[in-house]
Amino acid sequence: MIDKTLAGKVAYITGAARGQGRSHALALAGAGADIVAVDACANTKFSGYDMAAPEDLAETARLVEAAGGKVLTAQVDVRDLEGQQRAVTDAIARFGRLDIVVANAGVCNWGRLWEISAAQFAETIDVNLTGVWNTVRATVPAMIDAGNGGSIMTISSSAGVKAPPGCGHYAASKFGVVGLTKSLAIELGEYGIRVNTLLPYGTNTPLGNDTSMYKMFEEHPSYVYSYTPTLLKTDGLVEPEEISQVVVWLAGDGAGVITGAQIPVEKGFLAR
Ligand SMILES: NC(=O)c1ccc[n+]([C@@H]2O[C@H](COP(=O)([O-])OP(=O)(O)OC[C@H]3O[C@@H](n4cnc5c(N)ncnc54)[C@H](O)[C@@H]3O)[C@@H](O)[C@H]2O)c1
Repeated sequence: MIDKTLAGKVAYITGAARGQGRSHALALAGAGADIVAVDACANTKFSGYDMAAPEDLAETARLVEAAGGKVLTAQVDVRDLEGQQRAVTDAIARFGRLDIVVANAGVCNWGRLWEISAAQFAETIDVNLTGVWNTVRATVPAMIDAGNGGSIMTISSSAGVKAPPGCGHYAASKFGVVGLTKSLAIELGEYGIRVNTLLPYGTNTPLGNDTSMYKMFEEHPSYVYSYTPTLLKTDGLVEPEEISQVVVWLAGDGAGVITGAQIPVEKGFLAR
């Protein structure tokens, strides 16, 4: 029997159309939470892989419902603060409360810091860092109003604590997410809202399998030393479902004493 430890709680997840976001939506629904699934479902300019499509977001909703969960979808770009605020208003109207937030939407693209364009730098910071702040700005007031405490998770990256070459703008955005999350954890402690960052490394999603990174390794072979194998099961990437188990744990009372933490979910890459 599945343990419905999150029954009665409502989870807002960005980047939920596929990849880690969809996996987190399904796992949180499996634990009993109602789901608000947000995704732009539109391509960005600089990533070497396609973003999700509207059908992907619809498929996330179908999978949640097929598993017996309730779901509300919103096709919103995380760069659109008012759009996220509307999604939160709709979520409160439908489900009455908000307890869990997974600020997961993100993009990756490649290039050396002095060679990328201002537009490429800005897009990465806008989606990965300002997008997370927009999610915080849109969701936290509703969580405080509900008065039930809660759990916010931001998805940074191993690149948010150990900066690699070839994507310094991505690293800057993800370091920013770690700093934002630490400050937020301090500010929200008195409301009983826990705030933690997850640090994935290579994960089996379209972002994690982006082959456009190989051009950079061809041009700058020494960069590969910053992308070392992990300690565990070095033959493959982490599966999104493995990270979702940590998300469900952090969302629930079992992690009730954990806040302001950076949690590696990367098979030990950061330990080396
Ligand atoms: N896959 C990895 O190897 C890896 C490693 C470290 C960190 N991460 C982080 O994990 C998070 C999830 O990525 P993933 O691996 O599932 O990749 P993914 O590309 O499969 O999923 C990202 C999702 O975010 C959506 N999205 C992109 N830009 C958006 C925007 N502006 N507004 C709303 N939605 C948007 C996409 O449509 C997609 O559905 C990201 O923040 C990423 O930086 C991934």
